[in-house]
Amino acid sequence: MNIKPSRLTLCGNWVLERFPLAKVWNDHMAHYYAPKNFNFWYFFGSLALLVLVNQFVTGILLTMNYKPDAKLAFDSVEYIMRDVNWGWLVRYMHSTGASAFFIVIYLHMFRGLLYGSFKQPRELVWIFGMLLFVALMAEAFMGYLLPWGQMSYWGAQVIISLFSAIPVIGDELSLWVRGDYVVSDATLNRFFAFHVIAVPLVLVLLVFMHIVALHEVGSNNPDGIDIKKSKDPWGHPVDGIPFHPYYTVKDVVGVAVFLLFFATVIFYMPEMGGYFLEAANFIPADPMKTPEHIAPVWYFTPFYSILRAIPDKFAGVIGMGGAIVVLFLLPWLDRGKVKSIRYRGGIYKKALMLFVISFIALGYLGTQPVTPLATTMARIFTAIYFGFFLLMPIYTRWEKFKPVPNHLTLDPSLEEKIPALIALWNEVTEMKSIETDKGAVIKRRFNVEGTKHVLIRFAKYLKESLD
Ligand code: HEM
Repeated sequence: MNIKPSRLTLCGNWVLERFPLAKVWNDHMAHYYAPKNFNFWYFFGSLALLVLVNQFVTGILLTMNYKPDAKLAFDSVEYIMRDVNWGWLVRYMHSTGASAFFIVIYLHMFRGLLYGSFKQPRELVWIFGMLLFVALMAEAFMGYLLPWGQMSYWGAQVIISLFSAIPVIGDELSLWVRGDYVVSDATLNRFFAFHVIAVPLVLVLLVFMHIVALHEVGSNNPDGIDIKKSKDPWGHPVDGIPFHPYYTVKDVVGVAVFLLFFATVIFYMPEMGGYFLEAANFIPADPMKTPEHIAPVWYFTPFYSILRAIPDKFAGVIGMGGAIVVLFLLPWLDRGKVKSIRYRGGIYKKALMLFVISFIALGYLGTQPVTPLATTMARIFTAIYFGFFLLMPIYTRWEKFKPVPNHLTLDPSLEEKIPALIALWNEVTEMKSIETDKGAVIKRRFNVEGTKHVLIRFAKYLKESLD
């Protein structure tokens, strides 16, 4: 029987003969083999893409009513919040999206540290990722000036004035960046241009290069094993599965959970206690009045802390920049023979734990006013931060590694974990009835003994996994 192709099929074929859509889809989705054992940490790449799209869509909508003019900017944002239909939602999606972006990216980068995803042959994936991180910081910094509130204004003033610490060219450079002697309308206009078009273009280009570089060498995995080494008779990695439909479907679960958190913040706590939107930014910018305590948004505070911890201004700027430069060098600093933390020795695990603690502590200290104690603490954590990277060539060479298996090890599924989780929950929450001397039964809500057991087990587990 001769079946006549439909018009739609003919139309599709016409396009496919002229444009490699099917080839791109197959190469990067349907025939792209990804390791079978992607876990929780592998959700954050696709979530970063989702947040990027959210920022673009909401950003375009905001631009329709925002005015990049020092006299009108603050009021135009208020107008969006109060009078534009759904304007408050679009604005909160964008401002919450900025913080969500950094949460997702920090977790995405941490995954790289856990599983050695920056190591050979993924050095360029990491470098493009780091360039994305720098571009993202520039994007967020310039976006923060646009609402023209007190913190927008003074935050930009403080950070741009850092350029003047550079010897010889410093003053000229900061003047050039601002376009004026102080942050002004000229600064707002150029930041708007960069925030709305220039940096987003760079971001899109870098994301493209990041993914192309990744797909050229293939994804790493929680075991840090090269899945291309063992292939089936058809030439497919035995430890791999096609990205589509397996991971496209799995990523939908990540997206759903993420959106639950995202929506909760947007609808119930858009300011997040002053961390996502600072209180001082609800006051219009006033060049004559400095806010009592100038602090950048939370995602910059670890680096801001390093800046403040170093007594000399220029050295502080170098320290802050150096904190980012060392991240670029990671693929060459790590001399360890295995990728994944699962097969590394105890030194890297402890070093990574100290690094995470110091990064979070620096982040917290950066939100706080300067005191002698806070400065001392910031100096200690700055030393740990740099120690993690600069001593890495030494301690990763000393390490003893565990033998790496030839094939992926698969984690127990969620169904298998559920009974253990229920037992744990019961152990902690089981109510204990206590009888008083008069025979009455009082119910205690909290099972102290059970909680103690669980905590001891957890401490033992942590100790064992760090050895
Ligand atoms: C806009 C920002 C970014 C986007 C949209 C993005 C997107 C992605 C996507 C979709 C993947 C593949 C899925 C996955 O492995 O999770 C990926 C992998 C990766 N990304 Fe990013 N990324 C971004 C920023 C970064 C940054 C800042 C770094 C680190 C400096 C980084 C390092 C990596 C590495 C090393 C991999 C490979 C991981 C592996 O195979 O184990 N990315 N990224």
